[in-house]
Formats: sequence, structure tokens, C-alpha cells
Amino acid sequence: MNTLISHTPIWAKLKTHQQYIAQQHLRDLFALDPKRFEKFSIETEGFLLDYSKNYITDETVNLLLKLAKKVQLEEAINRLFSGAKVNNTEQRAALHTALRNRSNTPIKVDGKDIMPDINKVLVKMQQFTDKVRNREWRGYTGKPIESIVNIGIGGSDLGPAMVTKALKSYHHPRLKAYFVSNVDATHLNNTLATLDPETTLFIIASKTFTTQETLLNAHSARRWLIKHLGDQQAVAKHFVAISTAKQKVIEFGIDPINMFEFWDWVGGRYSLWSAIGLPIAVMIGMDKFEELLDGAHKLDQHFKNTELANNLPVLLALLEVWYSSFFGVKTQAILPYDYSLELFPAYLQQLAMESLGKRVTREGKNIDYPTCPIIWGSAGNNGQHAFYQLLHQGTQLIPADFIIAIDSQNDLNGHQDAVLSNALAQTHALMMGRSANQTQLQILKQEDKNLEQLINQVPHRVFMGDQPSNSLVYQKLTPSILGKLIALYEHKVFVESVCWNLNPFDQWGVELGKQVANMLLPALSSQRDTNINLGVDSSTIGLLKYIFKGSLS
Ligand code: F6P
Repeated sequence: MNTLISHTPIWAKLKTHQQYIAQQHLRDLFALDPKRFEKFSIETEGFLLDYSKNYITDETVNLLLKLAKKVQLEEAINRLFSGAKVNNTEQRAALHTALRNRSNTPIKVDGKDIMPDINKVLVKMQQFTDKVRNREWRGYTGKPIESIVNIGIGGSDLGPAMVTKALKSYHHPRLKAYFVSNVDATHLNNTLATLDPETTLFIIASKTFTTQETLLNAHSARRWLIKHLGDQQAVAKHFVAISTAKQKVIEFGIDPINMFEFWDWVGGRYSLWSAIGLPIAVMIGMDKFEELLDGAHKLDQHFKNTELANNLPVLLALLEVWYSSFFGVKTQAILPYDYSLELFPAYLQQLAMESLGKRVTREGKNIDYPTCPIIWGSAGNNGQHAFYQLLHQGTQLIPADFIIAIDSQNDLNGHQDAVLSNALAQTHALMMGRSANQTQLQILKQEDKNLEQLINQVPHRVFMGDQPSNSLVYQKLTPSILGKLIALYEHKVFVESVCWNLNPFDQWGVELGKQVANMLLPALSSQRDTNINLGVDSSTIGLLKYIFKGSLS
């Protein structure tokens, strides 16, 4: 599209409408319409999505759906699933949906059906995971594997780590999983310190097999293994790789027999459904890994086949577009009231911010509207005792997604009732707030203190409310529900990209830092010459000199 979406009549209508809506308090919208919850909630695919606590009316939803039509969302969804090269800057398809295409219908890339290759890798994963789980895969000294260490970063770490943690109750009782991503040796060393090399298997996960952090960690892990087992031959029994770059895996010294392949049409942050999910499959078993894929596939079908007005990813995305581009909202909080999803906010940060943190359209034109908010958050109750103060009484508008499990993975008397009461209390309190009058009445009634002091406290104890939120509720986090949840957010990101006309599948923004780091590395690793001329700014030179000498003098 050549015209920026912000220069179309529908955008102008939404802008005008925003000025009206911004004057309403959420609690007034509720007071005006007793059927608000029924109207703005939807139960489907094992979820209840309550989006009634948002700055919306029927008119808002109608206008946002018109925006979706204007950007030809339905056509874009079809293109995504068809294998078209939707990643236009890299001329690649983005077919994470094919990796979980459980109906196995043919999907073509450059005229070739990719399903047979996908299925072949799934069979290889099944054979490998069975061997590790059944004690058939033996280490160099003949002992069965007890620990797996995934070495990867970004998409080769965050997704598998998040899912592995989330599905802990499905783990094989003998096996333990570790994830090493950071290049600071502390991460690897602290992990290795707890491990027995004879029973440890390393999974080196890197799409490109060129990532500095992953390769340094992988080489150090290999040295550790050889040092302890005393033989280079041990590597074959203790290292496997997941990559698209076979030659580089071979150069590292891993036998291609022990390599699990994936393809350039799988984006790093969309890759947990591919062989990158191997640590998940080892820990929960291939049947449960397939349940994860099944769940995601069901959500894919929902996304593809459901009218926009009842489509979960579409609704969540349109709300975020509404807040970011029309209210100028800068951040969004992700608040899982399900401790198993502790890593979900960090995973979503990469998914959304690496996909949507862009400032030019797919055609390379500068945009003039705000796009991706900063995604952040933490597991429910912990956040309440840390940053919720700002949500309740700070000065910023911060929409939040409350992700709520009715049942926990674990059951202890009274715990889950506490989780649920807190989750519901927070969405209610953030929306309703508490006026000065209410505050006065309440504190005067309840507290036996100095009257003047209490009156002085009133402004400090007022809650403006009016903070919007979604509640996404499900019964219990099974592999299938988790698959659906992840696919839901993946597609949400895709819908936003269509509304904002961004390519969500490239990540050029990570390049410059890598290039400069490569330029500085020789200066750091060699003679540490303080008279360096690296062509960088004086601050960077000053920092380098301080690092070299430990002082400025
Ligand atoms: O630097 C960003 C990035 O390219 C991510 O997009 C990717 O998930 C991560 O690095 C890891 O890349 P790789 O799997 O190729 O090691």
C-alpha cells in the first residue's frame, strides 16, 4: 500500500472517535451498559476472553473492524498460510504454521511441498527423544543421559525455555533441563558446576550457527566435556545440533547424523515448533510435544476461518493498535496469574518487539504513527508487590493482559483461591479506582486515627482507576492450551503488522550492535592498546580505556 494507513478516512474517524472515548471513564461505560460483559467477551478454543474493560463501545469495535478490512487483513492471513514470501525484505515465506499443520495438507514453498521434510524431522525427533528418555542413548562412558543443556539465544532459547518451564509437571522424572544463553561465563559455569559430564547432553540450537554468544558457549562446553572425559570422541555422544546451516554444524565438529534440520522460512522467534523444540520434546515426550503442535494448529484454524469480529488474535491486536496508535500508549503489561508462565512475558518481548519494533513500512516508507508498545511484565502476585503501585497510582495509561488459569499445575489448600481472588481484584480495582469521596468514607469508617492526619492522607489514597485490561482465562495449562496461547499471540503480532504495514519477520535492527561489537572485539582481546583509533566516539574510547586500565588515570 502506497498511502500510509494514517492518511486514510478510517484512520481519521478513529482519531475523532478516540477524542470522545478518552473522556469516558471505564466505570461509566460499565454503568451505561449492563450487558457490557456479554457484549465484549468471547468463549472459544478453551479460552474466555473478557475484553469489556477496555476503552471501547460498539462504535469503536465497528471502526476497528473497518480498519482491518481497509488493510485487507483477511487477504494477508491467507497469504501468510499459503507460503507466499511475506517476509519481503528477505524474500522468504514465514511458515511456522506449517510446522504444526497437523492436517498434513500440502504446503508449497517455491513449488515444493514442504510437509514431507517437516514430518521427517518430527520422526527423527521422536526417535531421539525416545532413546534419551528410555536410557538407550548412552554417554561416552555408557551411562544414560540425565541432564540436557540447551545452548542458544533469542528465539533459540526463549521459546523452548518458556515452554519447558511451563510444562514442568509433564517432565520425565529422571531428566533435568538447563538453558544457557548468556555469553557471560557465569551462566555456563554456574550450570556446568551442577552437572556430571558423563550424563550430560548438549543441544546446540542456532538457526544460523554463527551467533557469537551461542558459539562461544558451545565451544567452552565442548572443552569442558573433553577435559572431563579425556577424549575428543566423546563429543559425538554428548552433542547434538539444531540448525539450518549443515556445513557450519559439521565445521563445529558435530556429526550431521546428530543434527536436526529446519529451514529459512522459520523465523527464529517463531521456531519453537520446529526441531528448536527438541529440549521440550525430550522433557515432556514426543506425544505431549505433538499435543502442543495440535493446540497451535487448532488456533491457526480459528485464526484462518473465523470472522474478524469473533477472532481472538484479531480482537487482541486491534485493541493494541487502538491504544498504541490512537492513545499513544507506550507500554503493555503481560501479567500471567499462572506461575508456570513465569517466562511468558520475556518470551513475548522478543516475539512482539523484534517483530514490530520498526519505523518503516513494508515498502520502506517512514511511518508517522506509533507502533509496538514496550512489552513487559511478570507472574501475577509477585508483580503486585513490586510494580503495581505505578499501575494503580502512576501517571501512565498501561493496558494489561491478565492471563489466568482456573487450576494451577499444583494444588495446595487455599493457594489457588488466593491466586484467583487477586487476579480478579486487580482487574476490577485497576478499572474502577476509588474516588476521593469513597476514600474518605472508607478510611474514616475503618480507622481509629487522628482525623487531620486521615484527611491529609486522602489524596494519597485515591485511585483514578480507568486502567484497561483484558482477561484471558483457561481451565489449566495443558500442552494443547499452551500451544493455543502461543499461537494466539503470534497471530496477534501478525495482525498488528498488517494494520501498521510492517514486515514482522525480519530483524535488521539487531545488526548494528553486532557489527560494532565485532569491530571492538579485537581491541579487547589483543594488546589492549589505549592509543587505539577505532573510529568510535570519545565516550566509547573513554570506556574502553577505563576497562583496560581499571582507572582513568
Ligand atoms: O540477534 C537476534 C537474533 O537473530 C534473533 O532473531 C534470533 O532468534 C537470535 O538472534 C538467535 O539466532 P540463531 O538461532 O541464528 O543463533
